[in-house]
Amino acid sequence: KGTKYGMKIRDGICLPNGVINLSYSKCFSLRDDDILISSFPKSGTTWTNELVWLIIHNLDYENSQKNVDKKFIWLDPGIPTKIIDDANSPRLFKNHLPLQFLPSDIKSEKIKKIYVLRNPKDMLVSTFHFYKKLVKDEFTGEFKDLVDLFEEGKTWYGPWWSHVDSFVDLPNTFLVIYEDLIKKPNETIKSLGEFLGKNLSDAEIEFLIESTSFKKMKDSENTLKNDPKHSSIFRSDLVFFRKGEIGDWKNYFDEKMSKRIENVN
Ligand code: A3P
Repeated sequence: KGTKYGMKIRDGICLPNGVINLSYSKCFSLRDDDILISSFPKSGTTWTNELVWLIIHNLDYENSQKNVDKKFIWLDPGIPTKIIDDANSPRLFKNHLPLQFLPSDIKSEKIKKIYVLRNPKDMLVSTFHFYKKLVKDEFTGEFKDLVDLFEEGKTWYGPWWSHVDSFVDLPNTFLVIYEDLIKKPNETIKSLGEFLGKNLSDAEIEFLIESTSFKKMKDSENTLKNDPKHSSIFRSDLVFFRKGEIGDWKNYFDEKMSKRIENVN
């Protein structure tokens, strides 16, 4: 359809072209205090990562602004296992791979899992803008073409539904819902803190809301773009912190497309 973009299908999963060796993610052992943050891309992963890092590091905002790329271990399958093994505890993993590609002990009651979920319609709008800025094989279609691909499970790390399904029922898993973070941040962050073993005060919650606001995080956009890994994948005019809102989908979906998304399974 002339809607090329950088993906390939491997073991029934749609992967970015750069992802080479899936077995990597099975080649290391988990520690009991590991924390794994998983999501479908464009669901609010970066925001959640930031909140979790701050919560487990006693709201150390100053240090959170340094070594941005060293705060999390991005569990893409190209990562050398040495980096994983040498990392200090508690290790914080960021991951988009579906569950079946992760070490099997991830299912254990001991390991804390956080899954980030967003209305797939808004997630798709965010994805649309993202794919258009790929350096190689950027998405050239219209929005409705992306909806077609989504339905077929052909957006990165798709199919979406089985991705969500594989994580949400795991033991010791906290579900971060993007819309909850926006609509009821105090309550959501309080529960996230409790899940991570911290009893956050009201003042601490306010601090977390303020220091991870869309505006504050957008200020770090350039740091993110300076990461060479990032610039090899995305064009410099990518706006990563784009809108940060609920409901932008209404500007992209007609009723028919909207119904199709609601029926994807
Ligand atoms: P939009 O493109 O709709 O703006 P991910 O981190 O999983 O790739 O998700 C990126 C999406 O989360 C983008 O959505 C981005 O703007 C939004 N986002 C990132 N930080 C945010 C924040 N602090 N508040 C609200 N939305 C945020």
